[in-house]
Amino acid sequence: MPAILETRNLTKVFYRGSLLARDRIVAVDNVSFQMKRGEVFTLAGESGCGKTTVARMILGFEHPTSGEIVYENNEAKKNEKVWFNQRIQAVFQNPFETFNPLRKVEGYLFETVRNYRLASDRSAAEKLINSKLEAVGLSFSEVQGRYPSEFSGGQLQRISIARSLLVDPSLLIADEPVSMVDASIRMSIVNLFKHLRDELNMGILYITHDLATAYYLNGQIAVMFRGNTMEMGPVQQVLMNPLHPYTQLLRESIPEADPAKKWQGRISIAETEQEEYLREGCKFAGRCPQVMEICKKQVPDIVSIDGVQVKCHLYSGTKGRQKEVS
Ligand SMILES: Nc1ncnc2c1ncn2[C@@H]1O[C@H](COP(=O)(O)OP(=O)(O)OP(=O)(O)O)[C@@H](O)[C@H]1O
Ligand SMILES: [Mg+2]
Repeated sequence: MPAILETRNLTKVFYRGSLLARDRIVAVDNVSFQMKRGEVFTLAGESGCGKTTVARMILGFEHPTSGEIVYENNEAKKNEKVWFNQRIQAVFQNPFETFNPLRKVEGYLFETVRNYRLASDRSAAEKLINSKLEAVGLSFSEVQGRYPSEFSGGQLQRISIARSLLVDPSLLIADEPVSMVDASIRMSIVNLFKHLRDELNMGILYITHDLATAYYLNGQIAVMFRGNTMEMGPVQQVLMNPLHPYTQLLRESIPEADPAKKWQGRISIAETEQEEYLREGCKFAGRCPQVMEICKKQVPDIVSIDGVQVKCHLYSGTKGRQKEVS
């Protein structure tokens, strides 16, 4: 099956600090991956590893410094905004920020129908909106006449997904879509993604801290650290038998229910983030339990082992699985 999205050596450089003392941060460093229709591709990794920057480049909010993004086997071209918006839709972390509290929620849905000329009159529009709301477990009568404050975060996230479904996209980009939603209804949103994948054959780029939901959604995963893809491959394989010491560490740390805290345990959100971004060699060398001298000096190559790509000196020169990591 052809890829619906491919990134090739996608790179984004940011400069931070003053003009005289500015740091060059490679927030996304030669990231290459492919997504297929009907598949979930997860981008995972701790805060500040470059996940949102990847998503923003795919959505055209940010220009890549280098590398390319290929959509449905076509190079992304300028002036194809309408085509683009109909193929790729996004759902963001905080549903309360998506909707203006003073505006009725249905207004957003009708606006999308109007913008894309999806219906010829009001009753056709209502019918279309109702069908998309039903796809996410709601209905037009539940939404009609109501303001954002009258819904829960989970309901608003569903409405936001229904709105993106209006244009029948082939790819949904969901950046931390459940982290602000109550833990009790988180799974229902994750199940909704499963439904969109299976029933509508959509591709879903799922960005998360939560490896449990990534595991549940299956598909492929790329584990990022300071702009780099450390390990990439089928979710079950990567999470059940992680090759990279970072993936192993990530799997052991438990994400907190409280999104403000995000992580507890062995990974703390780093004041060392800047230091790690500026580090030569492997970005993870400063925290890696299996660090070697070479890791501090030389960036590891990506090695392919049993369908998993791993960027780690432990596997340099390996052609097959010669090293089992417990
Ligand atoms: N516009 C910008 N200017 C400068 N630096 C930026 C900009 N956007 C992001 N960064 C930096 O790039 C790095 C990656 O940020 P990004 O938001 O992509 O991470 P993330 O993985 O999405 O994190 P989180 O899980 O917290 O959402 C961070 O160090 C961030 O501070
Ligand atoms: Mg982010």
